[in-house]
Amino acid sequence: MPHYRRFQDISVSEKLLNSMFLLMIAVAYLFALLHMYYAHEGRDGEAGLSVKDVMIAYHGSHDQTRLGAAIKGSMGANLPSAAAKNDILDWINLGAHEDDYQTRIRPIFENNCIACHSVDSGMPIPSLESFADVRALTHTDTGATIPTLVRVSHIHLFGIAFILFFVGRIFLLCEMPALWKRVAVIIPFAAVLIDILSWYITKSIPGFAYVVVISGGLMGLSLWFQIGVSMYQMWFHQKHHQGEVT
Ligand code: HEC
Repeated sequence: MPHYRRFQDISVSEKLLNSMFLLMIAVAYLFALLHMYYAHEGRDGEAGLSVKDVMIAYHGSHDQTRLGAAIKGSMGANLPSAAAKNDILDWINLGAHEDDYQTRIRPIFENNCIACHSVDSGMPIPSLESFADVRALTHTDTGATIPTLVRVSHIHLFGIAFILFFVGRIFLLCEMPALWKRVAVIIPFAAVLIDILSWYITKSIPGFAYVVVISGGLMGLSLWFQIGVSMYQMWFHQKHHQGEVT
């Protein structure tokens, strides 16, 4: 029977290295959740993050404009007052005409938005410098564009593959029934693939936002499971001698 490495076979230094890595991933995951919250929160006009917000992020809100959705959501925090927000929303509702833009709206953007939303800032976000730029964002919101989704997908897939691989390698040193372990290493990868695929499907079928949320949650839970079991067994688990084949 082949001998597979277990936590009892590794040195304390290796356990420390593993633990610091897992700890850092756990903290990074919490920041990823915060980021997700701030990026999507309030898109539907209500405080907090909901499936509706996710729906709007990918499918868009076909009765809303990108500009309107952004300032009702996370971009609203950049505005000095609720009055400024209402001015912009009214302007969009009244047809986003250039005259009103020049007199009432442009100063708001110049003071609060173009530090980031300009070509000079170098940020990959829509410019708000000219009327034409702004006008383009006042058409109805059809959600994240395909090029944006493709960009975010490739970053996520490359990045998360590494995280799951290294966490999974550590987790393999646990002792547990072989079947559980095999399932536990596959789930997070499958969940990420389903999650990312669902972004694209949600673009046309808004109900798929639930799949985005569920698969994202599953990936999170399975990652926490691997990290938790690994940390526990690495430091507190007593050695077994029965020669399990896990
Ligand atoms: C500190 C930098 C910063 C400031 C200031 C800022 N934004 Fe943004 N904005 C961003 C970033 C980063 C994104 C892309 C990520 C996101 O959607 O949260 C973004 C995205 C957007 C989008 C695009 C959403 C989409 O559909 O892709 C709009 C519209 C927008 N902001 C409007 C505004 C308005 C209006 C203001 C001023 C009231 C403003 N922003 C101020 C950084 C900024």
